[in-house]
Amino acid sequence: MAGIKQNIDLPPLRLGPRLECLLSLLPAVTGRLIDIGCDHALLPIAALERGMVGSALAVDVRSRPLDRAHANIIARGLEQGIGTVLSDGFDEIDLQPGDTAVIAGIGATVIVDILRRARESGKLFPGFFLLLQPTRSTAALRMYLTPEWEIVAEKFFFQGGRLYNFLSTTYRGCSEDNSTTHNDNITEFPDISVDIYSYIAKRKPSPASLYSVWMGECNLRDRGIAPDLWRRYLRHQLSAAREFMLGAPSKQKETWRELCRILEEEIK
Ligand SMILES: C[S@@+](CC[C@H](N)C(=O)[O-])C[C@H]1O[C@@H](n2cnc3c(N)ncnc32)[C@H](O)[C@@H]1O
Repeated sequence: MAGIKQNIDLPPLRLGPRLECLLSLLPAVTGRLIDIGCDHALLPIAALERGMVGSALAVDVRSRPLDRAHANIIARGLEQGIGTVLSDGFDEIDLQPGDTAVIAGIGATVIVDILRRARESGKLFPGFFLLLQPTRSTAALRMYLTPEWEIVAEKFFFQGGRLYNFLSTTYRGCSEDNSTTHNDNITEFPDISVDIYSYIAKRKPSPASLYSVWMGECNLRDRGIAPDLWRRYLRHQLSAAREFMLGAPSKQKETWRELCRILEEEIK
């Protein structure tokens, strides 16, 4: 916050558990934090006020949320530290080495669209850290991210009966070989979120790899840390898998049935 005069008369910003969790997963950096889909811009404001980042960009595709963000930034006296940009994803942003980014509270379809365009425009660089909190279709997003993005850590919690997933990722870059694979993923990633699970089934994952993408490899690795929470997660994911099994076309039913069997076995 060197050189930035924050409004010291204001009490510290109070955030809800979801935004606090996002903050806790951000690496402390001296560079910029880019908040794509910032809405109120509470995340970059808190990150800057807590000295976690050198500066920030609050980005939104719609002008009304961006005006709200701007008003909040001014109210906190942070206009020297946080810029606002009207942009669809990273379209109007020139990413610089040292930048980190967050995309939170947005569905996987839009996230993938944002990442696809950032990738095609050559903006992404190896080591680029991106924190994601998709509102839906997390399993399909995990599948899309691999192998060009590494999911380095995951976290989840329940609030008001709802599951929130958080994915810390870094961009690995694309080689000649895997760019083809990834392009296939991109063109097939569906526009309508309800079709996202047929995207998974189309890849014909083995039951073990479907289980891995459904639960998240990092979550599986950490499952012993909080056994009660893990059981709740298992039950939640089983119930979601059952729903997809019921709604799936007959060719795909067996994939979901097998996943349900694995989850039922683990819950026993
Ligand atoms: C539900 S709010 C989430 C706000 C904040 N990120 C959070 O987690 O609390 C979603 C915001 O993302 C913005 N948004 C949706 N698609 C976007 C895109 N392609 N590029 C930038 N912003 C986008 C919306 O305008 C909205 O303000």
